[in-house]
Amino acid sequence: MYRRRPIRIAPSILDADFGRLAEQIATVAAAGAELLHLDVMDGHFVPNLSLGVPVVAGIARHTDLFLDTHLMIADPGKYAPAFVEAGADSITFHIETVEKPAALIEKLRGLGVKVGVSLNPGTAVEAVLPIIDQVDIVLVMSVWPGFGGQRFIRDSLAKIEALAARMNAEQWLEVDGGINSETAPLAVAAGADTLVAGSAVFGSADPAAAFGRLRAAALRAQATVEPQA
Ligand code: DX5
Ligand code: ZN
Repeated sequence: MYRRRPIRIAPSILDADFGRLAEQIATVAAAGAELLHLDVMDGHFVPNLSLGVPVVAGIARHTDLFLDTHLMIADPGKYAPAFVEAGADSITFHIETVEKPAALIEKLRGLGVKVGVSLNPGTAVEAVLPIIDQVDIVLVMSVWPGFGGQRFIRDSLAKIEALAARMNAEQWLEVDGGINSETAPLAVAAGADTLVAGSAVFGSADPAAAFGRLRAAALRAQATVEPQA
């Protein structure tokens, strides 16, 4: 049972050239991107550091793209307001980081952004089921978070299928990690509609062309699994 939804490709700037970030963002916007995926890391929840509030604010000043903000941080409730103030359009937190996800979701909802919940490769789908109807986005990590350029973990596909069966057509089912022209069709066939791609886009010599190839591969996969729509 597959849900017909728009397919979105969200380039992750983690692999972009931060020395010319505005230019790189303009390139994927011109290629048709609607979302930009921003990976925030704190060196605690994940063993790496990336970007913070001032970078998000700077990006927001230079683009109208939807800023899909992925907080890989230990205390998302503490920092989310600053990211929203900076221009984030959605806040996705990790289910592993909170004891009372319903309360955090309510707090984020009050900030006026889309609310997402993410689960690591080692976390079962059941962990998000109690709050699944309260979120706008479920983000399935198909690599262990912390670094770009890793290989797609195939076990994620069964999780995507299980989540797709529990979500409605307005909710976004997003997959993050190891997405390229080979794995994007698998994720779409399993039920994902929003595909994060870092190295496959910005690791390419021609990010615009890479973005186009990825979107074409995802749309072909959707047409194959949902031929009637
Ligand atoms: C990983 C990040 C991802 C990363 C994806 O911790 O959450 O968004 O940028 O990079 P690729 O597409 O190269 O796996
Ligand atoms: Zn991410």
